[in-house]
Amino acid sequence: MRILGVGIATLDIVNRVASYPEEDAEVRALGQQVVRGGNTTNTLVVLSQLGHDCSWGGCLADEPDSQVILDDLARYQVDTIHCMVHAGGKVPTSYVVQSASTGSRTIVHHRDLPEFPAEAFDLIDLDDFDWVHFEGRNIAALKSMLARTRLAGLPCSLEVEKARSGIEQLFELPDVLLYSRGYARHAGYDRPDEFLADIPPTGREAYCAWGELGAWVRDAAGHVHHAPPQRPPEVIDTLGAGDVFNAAVIDARVRELSPIEAAACGCALAGRKCGQQGLGDLLTLEEGRVPPEPGP
Ligand code: FRU
Repeated sequence: MRILGVGIATLDIVNRVASYPEEDAEVRALGQQVVRGGNTTNTLVVLSQLGHDCSWGGCLADEPDSQVILDDLARYQVDTIHCMVHAGGKVPTSYVVQSASTGSRTIVHHRDLPEFPAEAFDLIDLDDFDWVHFEGRNIAALKSMLARTRLAGLPCSLEVEKARSGIEQLFELPDVLLYSRGYARHAGYDRPDEFLADIPPTGREAYCAWGELGAWVRDAAGHVHHAPPQRPPEVIDTLGAGDVFNAAVIDARVRELSPIEAAACGCALAGRKCGQQGLGDLLTLEEGRVPPEPGP
């Protein structure tokens, strides 16, 4: 299927440390990786491994770090023709501390780049796509993009990771809502099943992944189901696990699996991701899906 993702790409500077440092400490990293990140492009890279033709709508800056991002997307055959490049500025950059003792990741994120505007989205021919995935960021622009997508009769998903002002206005618009644990907590819930049972519009399919407890899904009839976690033998790296969950859910839904099956696929792939470093080679050949060639 042809999938368009609208959201961010980042440069991730990942320092692996033995354990998370105390404030004002000075510690030596066990290793460092400089890689492409960003929720939407992470999701697209996984969807590409799942066999879909992916395109990205987002912004870069005309500076050398953009090349790291473009090279990685090219390696996964994610099309960047709809990408906007801004003169001046810096690509959004995340400084990630990854603890080897727990696999947790702590992110300090810096961005000064404008968000992908609705005017740029309007230039994209939606006939070229079967599904559009959006990252819940610039609310006013997203309202217009989601409305246009609906008008075109295209199914779409919205990731709701952070509590941004006015984001609730968007919840009526996508077919599939992908909430984070952080958002549910911000909304005052400690239990994802209760969160999903309450969050309007209740007739809309909604998912909420909850780390080591698995994920919950509310189907269109309003029933909430649990998908158990698929824990890896060892938790190595949790950076981007939520983005992998989202990719597996979208893949399952475009293949017309049920919401419960989609949540189970999400847990399986996110679990596998947590057992390895990065997002490469997430699929094994035994599953009949060929991962892309490793980069240089
Ligand atoms: C992981 C991630 C990182 C990025 C950060 C942006 O979900 O996309 O790759 O640096 O989140 O918020």
